[in-house]
Amino acid sequence: MKTLISSDVRLLADLIRKGGVVVFPTETVYGIGASSKNEEACKRIYQIKGRPSDNPLIAHFDSIGSIEKVCKVNEFAKRLLGEFSPGPLTLVLPKLDTSIFPKDSETLAVRIPKNPVIREWIGLCGSPISAPSANLSGRPSLTRMTDVVRYFDGIVDGIFLTDEPSLGIESTVVGMHLDPPVLFRPGSIESKDLRRFLPHLMVPKSFQVQGEMTPASPGMKYKHYAPKAKVYLCHATEFHSNFQKEGENPSFAWIGFSFDGKEIVEGGFRIGLDSPERIKLVSSNREYSSFLYAFFEFCDQMGMERIYCEEPALGEGREALLNRLEKASESE
Ligand code: TXA
Ligand code: MG
Repeated sequence: MKTLISSDVRLLADLIRKGGVVVFPTETVYGIGASSKNEEACKRIYQIKGRPSDNPLIAHFDSIGSIEKVCKVNEFAKRLLGEFSPGPLTLVLPKLDTSIFPKDSETLAVRIPKNPVIREWIGLCGSPISAPSANLSGRPSLTRMTDVVRYFDGIVDGIFLTDEPSLGIESTVVGMHLDPPVLFRPGSIESKDLRRFLPHLMVPKSFQVQGEMTPASPGMKYKHYAPKAKVYLCHATEFHSNFQKEGENPSFAWIGFSFDGKEIVEGGFRIGLDSPERIKLVSSNREYSSFLYAFFEFCDQMGMERIYCEEPALGEGREALLNRLEKASESE
């Protein structure tokens, strides 16, 4: 298949209206999308990703008004959307319009991406865009154009060329159809931010549902975000002492905190600015999140065996980053 790689919103909207599948960037990660009103096209996304059929897709909208046409939006949902959209927030709402994929579901996850060019494109498509993250099921989401082209050129109808994701991890998902509302997936908008507008938000102790239990959000039961390399999540002291022992091993990779952007000093060793690419130093949880999946991809490309990840710092950005690292480091 010939893939149109373009920034032309009209051509890319034409592809969607004709039943095509298009990979596009959002501020979180890349999505792989089709018209929410075209069941065949949405089902093709499941085939391409190898996604379990019981895991529903987020519908992406251009405005709050368009969401209100297809879902029941109560006062709390309206306030959250008013505060955090466009942005990395997904709300699961009661669905009113049965023509939207998945047709037989009584709920719909909705989100308005931040990039105005993407919103313009969604508007031109004439329907919401149903899209999971653009990756093979279970693997890390993609955040770099070069990775998207490597996986999807020749597989999808179009690839949208515009700003790459900046946040690097998927949106916060809140089940607003439940009472009390439940945090299904932590993201850049943290539970403390949500609680300002949603004091009764329920935050589960674990975002992983084990065994045969049916979770309220199917994504909670599947393995996620895992590269081929084995991921080790380490406390700072363990990370540093492991690095001292094994930092020279060319098939081991490291991602953790730097000091002044240059060195890890706590363990008594130093990595200069010329550290190899398999050692990624970050200075905040936000920076860590923005690089994490791209680093996982890079490590798999390089055939790394292990990736050591330092535990996120306390405070801002920890909730979602720790969740992704825990999931990535779970054994099979
Ligand atoms: O940042 C993001 O959210 C990205 C970009 C592309 O928007 N999308 C994304 O989609 O991460 P996906 O499919 O990889 O994750 C969506 C999550 C899954 O865990 C899924 O189970 C849950 O949202 N979800 C979707 N629809 C749902 C529904 N109706 N009820 C409960 N959970 C739902
Ligand atoms: Mg995903």
